[in-house]
Amino acid sequence: MTYLAIAVENLTREQATEELSRLSKELAQHDHNYYHLAAPEISDAMYDAIFQRNLAIERRFPDLRRIDSPTHRIGAAPSPEFEKVKHRKAMLSLDNAFSEEDVYDFIARIKRFLKCQEDTIIPCMAEPKIDGLSATLHYQKGQFILGATRGDGQEGENITQNLRTVRDIPLVLQGDIIPENVEIRGEVYMSKADFETVNEIRIASGETPFANPRNAAAGSLRLLDSSITAKRSLRFFAYGYECLSNQTEQSQEDILVSLNRLGFKVSPLVALCTDVTTMLKHYSFIESQRSDLPYEIDGVVYKVNDLALQARLGAVGRSPRHSIAHKFSAEQAETIIEVIEVQVGRTGVLTPVAYLRPVVVGGVTVSRASLHNDDEIRRKDIRVGDTVIVQRAGDVIPQVINVVLSKRPEISTPFVFPQACPICTSPVIQQEGQVARRCSGGFSCIAQAVERLRHFVSRDAFDIDGLGDRHLQNFFTWGLVRTPYDLFTLEARNSTILPPLEAREGWGKKAVSNLFDALNKRRKITLDRLIFGLGIPQIGQVTARTLAHRFKNMESLLNAKAHEICSLEGVGENMAADLTQFFEIPDNRLLINGILEHVQIEEYIAAAAVDSLFSGKTVVFTGSLEKLSRAEAKAQAERLGAHVGSSISKKTDFVIVGTDAGKKLTQAKELGLEILSEEQWIQMNQ
Ligand code: IVH
Repeated sequence: MTYLAIAVENLTREQATEELSRLSKELAQHDHNYYHLAAPEISDAMYDAIFQRNLAIERRFPDLRRIDSPTHRIGAAPSPEFEKVKHRKAMLSLDNAFSEEDVYDFIARIKRFLKCQEDTIIPCMAEPKIDGLSATLHYQKGQFILGATRGDGQEGENITQNLRTVRDIPLVLQGDIIPENVEIRGEVYMSKADFETVNEIRIASGETPFANPRNAAAGSLRLLDSSITAKRSLRFFAYGYECLSNQTEQSQEDILVSLNRLGFKVSPLVALCTDVTTMLKHYSFIESQRSDLPYEIDGVVYKVNDLALQARLGAVGRSPRHSIAHKFSAEQAETIIEVIEVQVGRTGVLTPVAYLRPVVVGGVTVSRASLHNDDEIRRKDIRVGDTVIVQRAGDVIPQVINVVLSKRPEISTPFVFPQACPICTSPVIQQEGQVARRCSGGFSCIAQAVERLRHFVSRDAFDIDGLGDRHLQNFFTWGLVRTPYDLFTLEARNSTILPPLEAREGWGKKAVSNLFDALNKRRKITLDRLIFGLGIPQIGQVTARTLAHRFKNMESLLNAKAHEICSLEGVGENMAADLTQFFEIPDNRLLINGILEHVQIEEYIAAAAVDSLFSGKTVVFTGSLEKLSRAEAKAQAERLGAHVGSSISKKTDFVIVGTDAGKKLTQAKELGLEILSEEQWIQMNQ
């Protein structure tokens, strides 16, 4: 959350004037990001906090209210609503490589996973990474029937009408061989020239120009009126193909050929490479073309060409192992640090943020940069008033690289990190061996509590409608709801609260009854949503699903040992430590028990759960496998819905033995377990 260190009641008139001027600009920028670009940079909670502060300052100094104050605009235009579309195959995102070494590592990792010799050739397709927005297009019997955004990767928004206006998207597939049922994946983008034209028109009509072609494309795709989208001349490059009938393509190269035949534009800058040296050579070639291209690109994507290998490689979390985005290096600029604020996040971590004199870096205006933590500030000796070099790498949050010491003002003092939380004044603590400093206030700190509540009610967690950030803040200030548990007792308490909720600001009878309905609908929920909703550090939606799939209920998860958690695909030691630490905190245990009293937890059934001989079974691999790496064997088992155990017990269903299997094989025989050879396992997997 963004709060200035000085409390409103202590501001001088001069400071208030200055701050109101800054806040009006800042909020106008956030309005613009939200309404025009559909690309907010801060959470609603943070926006509300800044807005409330602006309001509080104006209440104290009414005559300082500016003509451009954001408080004149309460109730501004609503954000458009599109119907949701569940993707039949998840739309993943790519891991990034920032150096040549990362690319070598990518190929080495693949070879290790596939257990092939170091000198094996793994041909990869290198394609420019178009800087736009990904979209998926459904074609049935050759007709374009539905188009959607990527959304969170599982579910996107139906933007068919808008995509129909994109001339590169055929409404009917071309060519002789028309697949019955196919999804085309690609990038919607705006050319540099069209971006300039759109902005000229916007400026002429008094509208704020778009920051870059990507934001212009995003804003245009999310317009409710598709006749305006049509005027924006969006374009489309196809790069992916998910055939849901019988697919004949066997490589990415085949896919690109098919896409072209079906009437799509495919980038002409693609190349099939046989080793890292040729991949890097093509990277340099594409980079050399970058400024002359009529559209923006931000890197090169390498994809394992063979689709059968791609399938074997699978995914970790939200990224496939078979592809990587090699980003172009970051662009830099010089600017001045005007203010350093300390913000408090959901888990209590204090993050210092530099407010910068706005500067354009790589086509985007940057006015804030995270300084990460106190160590980082001290290491780089960053001070308010310093001239600094800032860098922006693609979507990555801008960073302060270093201070230009020769430009440091004569009077300058080192930054002092607060000892008390700037929001709730609780002591700031730092655990041994950790760089992060945290507010010790937990749920009593409004910043943490509201962020945790916001996360709990968010779409991928409890998905409770009608509880905006302002409501959550008010709930907290009124003492009605401090933890997610309190939400479920609110209805019962409401008759004893004075005044009852329906008589309070922002609430009426209907709204209250809608809220209680929404909460009651969630008194039954799947385990993955509860795990995600708790807001455990590092546990995102994918990990929450993995944990729910493995542990089935909260009790088993609470009693899980770190090594059991670490053995899951995509879960590292660090994550497991955060999880167990979270459960050790008494307040968190109380919270979970409280929720369990009011909410019935249902088993999580993985969407793509395959009905295989191994679903729900425990398998143990032992001995050394010849053809598969352990990682691949484990990933295969998990894809088949099995759990991979590390030791043999009566609960083990299958034991897969390689060569030199020792004690575990003997144990398995003694227990009369089903034993499979590696060869049998591979055959059963085909
Ligand atoms: S392949 C698993 N190829 O980059 C995702 N993506 O995070 C497969 N992109 O969401 C994507 N050009 O929006 C692929 N030639 C290309 C691309 C490309 C741009 C975007 C796409 C994706 C993001 C990666």
